[in-house]
Amino acid sequence: MNKAELTCFEPGCRARYAITEIIYNCTKCGGLLEVTYTESIRDAAQWKRTWRERRCDNSPAEQSGVWRYREMIPFLDDPRHIVTLREGNTPLLDAKTASAYGGLARLTFKHQGFNPSGSFKDNGMTCGVAQAKRLGMHRVACVSTGNTSASMAAYASAAGLKPIIFIPHGNISYGKLAQALEYGALTLQVEANFDQILKLVRTLSEQLGIYLLNSINPFRIEGQKTIIIEMMDQRDWNPPEWIVLPGGNLGNVSAFGKALRELHAQGFIPRLPRLAVIQAEKSAPFYEYMRAAGRQPFRAIEKPETLATAIKIGDPVSWPKAQHEINTTNGVVEQVTEQEIADAKARIGLAGIGCEPASAATLAGIRKLTAAGTMSRDADVIAVLTGNLLKDPDYIYGYHTGTLKAPDGRSIESTFGNKPVVVPNDTARIAAILRN
Ligand code: F0G
Repeated sequence: MNKAELTCFEPGCRARYAITEIIYNCTKCGGLLEVTYTESIRDAAQWKRTWRERRCDNSPAEQSGVWRYREMIPFLDDPRHIVTLREGNTPLLDAKTASAYGGLARLTFKHQGFNPSGSFKDNGMTCGVAQAKRLGMHRVACVSTGNTSASMAAYASAAGLKPIIFIPHGNISYGKLAQALEYGALTLQVEANFDQILKLVRTLSEQLGIYLLNSINPFRIEGQKTIIIEMMDQRDWNPPEWIVLPGGNLGNVSAFGKALRELHAQGFIPRLPRLAVIQAEKSAPFYEYMRAAGRQPFRAIEKPETLATAIKIGDPVSWPKAQHEINTTNGVVEQVTEQEIADAKARIGLAGIGCEPASAATLAGIRKLTAAGTMSRDADVIAVLTGNLLKDPDYIYGYHTGTLKAPDGRSIESTFGNKPVVVPNDTARIAAILRN
């Protein structure tokens, strides 16, 4: 029988724990944990067919773009613990104008903003909450730059669990905060940054027996693997050359790399795409670390800054996993400025697609990587848009009206601005404007 276990990610340790242990780090060496399975899938061709067939099935689990692929995440022993809001099922979208801006002949977006709570976090949260139910937990907690909390609030409430969220006061967008309130989360705004609050929440969770649902939770990572599995399914198992994503706490790149390795090892895809992680310039500790190519220890950034608040993280917990996945896929890490993110975001909007600021770091990064020759003009590239356009309307209004200011106080140029025009209630004068 296939057995799921928690295994220490550190190559020198690899200590194993029962899948039902409530731990978030290896108790022997402190390393990160991952979910491992004693058996792998044998008949890839058969599963590809089955997963396709399930798309026509009306039962909740089959309609989920996560649980439909449950053979790739077989950690649950009882399907009754599944709570689904029909997450996943996000589209691949071609964007001609955005590809030209990125210096590519062709570019495809996988838009995770189409998820029920508007971000990729839903793919992982459905799994994290299922595990919480299986463990008999009543309360779940996370610190968040906004999307994790919105997602956790939704799934916990849907599951009948109590969500408790911790957010850095004044540093998350209203769209995300509003979601948490509406979904019924006890919302604590702490006067500290994400990294400081994570330490606090870990201590409180342990003391009070609350289940922690940050991306250090390996079940979240299992769920986020399905972003890649679904992507490959949508591409008829033909992997692109590059997959580009923004990096914050580095959970998503860890999930993507694990999914790619597992799909490759089990014969679902013929080769590994290269992963490109893009960080915001003043919140880019992983970029700095990888640039030094292991010659320096990992250094956290004490006061990370960026208007892309989703990725405003200075001490990402999953960096050892992220490093492994970048190395395994011959990947790269790049950083982009506030102006580059803002302009790329407007270009994604002009393609009729739109996304939140952190997601736009992908296109800004692609533009840099093609200019440097790292990514070739005719490369087959998929960029993952991690969050919905409506998550952060203040940013959008600021950009288009020329009032957006970077954290250092400098104005962001409204390069592709589209200012609303105030007009009098006067047909003749409005007609004059429209004739121009
Ligand atoms: N994009 C968006 C829209 C995000 O919300 C996040 C992370 C990321 C990218 C980065 O992903 O952390 O896996 O590297 N948001 C977290 C949150 C931290 O609390 O919502 P990562």
